[in-house]
Amino acid sequence: MIERLADPAEARAWCAERRESGASVGFVPTMGALHIGHLSLVERAVAENDFACVSVFVNPLQFDDPSDLECYPRDFEGDARLLEGVGCAMVFTGTLEQFFPGELSADGALASARLVDPGPAAEGLEGACRSGHFGGVATIVERLFEVVEPERAYFGRKDYQQALVIADLARRRGGPRGIVCDIVRESSGLACSSRNALLTDGERERAVCLSRSLETVDAAWREGARDAALLGALLRENLERVGVEVEYAELRDPERWSAAAPLGELERAVALVAARVGGVRLIDNRVLGVGGDGRG
Ligand code: PAJ
Repeated sequence: MIERLADPAEARAWCAERRESGASVGFVPTMGALHIGHLSLVERAVAENDFACVSVFVNPLQFDDPSDLECYPRDFEGDARLLEGVGCAMVFTGTLEQFFPGELSADGALASARLVDPGPAAEGLEGACRSGHFGGVATIVERLFEVVEPERAYFGRKDYQQALVIADLARRRGGPRGIVCDIVRESSGLACSSRNALLTDGERERAVCLSRSLETVDAAWREGARDAALLGALLRENLERVGVEVEYAELRDPERWSAAAPLGELERAVALVAARVGGVRLIDNRVLGVGGDGRG
C-alpha cells in the first residue's frame, strides 16, 4: 500500500527514517493530474532507488495567472492510485502554509523577498512570458528538497528550461543528483501534459502542430540548415499556419543558455515552443539532430 501523507512535516519524518536506515530515496516533484509522462519518471525513480516518493502540490507561487491556477486539474486520490500501481512508496501533499509555516503574510502570500533567485537559466522564453514563474518553481523545489532530501530527483525534458533552473539549484545546494528524462508523447506526437485534459477534441487535433513543427525543423536541421533565425522562422510559420497563438518559437544552444536566441549558425540546437490552443497554454521542445527526444 502506498503511504498517503497530507502534511510535509510527516513526509519529512517518513523520508528521514528511510535515509537514516541507509536506504536511498528517489523523488519526483509534481503538480498532480498525473499522466504517463509523470509515471515514466516515477518508474525510473522506483527502479533506481530503495524507495520512490512523489509530491503533488499545485504551487501557487509559480502561477502568474489566477484563472490558470484555478482551472489546473486536481485529483489527489486518482493520482495516489496511479502511483501505487507503479510501485511508488509514498505520496505527499500540503498547503502553502504547511510548506512555509509562519512565513506567510496575513493575506496568505509569501513575501517576494523570500522567493529563491532562479539564476540565469530563468532568463528568456518561459521566464520572459511568465513573470516570476521560475522564482516560484525554485522556491518550492528548494523546500521540497529540504523535506525529502532525496538522493536522486527526476525531471522531464518536456519542461526544458525548468530542468536547467533546477539543475543550477541542485548544484548550488550540493544535491540531489538531478536526472532528466525523455519526453513522453501520445501516439499523435502531442507531448503528454496535465493541461491536455483541458483541450476539446478540435483543440487536441490542432495541438499536434507543436510536435509536428518541431519535427519539420528537425528535418531541416538534418538537411543542413543551421541558421538560428531561419530555423526559428520555419518553426513559427508551421505553428501560425494552423492558427495557434504562438508565444515563442525559438532556438537555443543546449550547452549555453542565453536569454535571447543566438545569432547566426548553430553548432547544436534545441527548438522550443509555447503556444495557446484555444485557452490552453502548451509547451514543447526538441533537441535537433539527435533522434526523438534528445537521445543520441
Ligand atoms: P508538473 O507539470 O506536474 O510536472 C512534473 C514533472 O513531470 C516535471 O519534471 C515535468 O517536466 C515532468 N513531465 C511532464 N510532462 C512530461 C512528459 N510528457 N514527459 C516527461 N516528463 C514530463 O513541473 C512541475 O510540475 C512543477 O513546476 C514542479 C517541478 C512540480 C514544481 O512545482
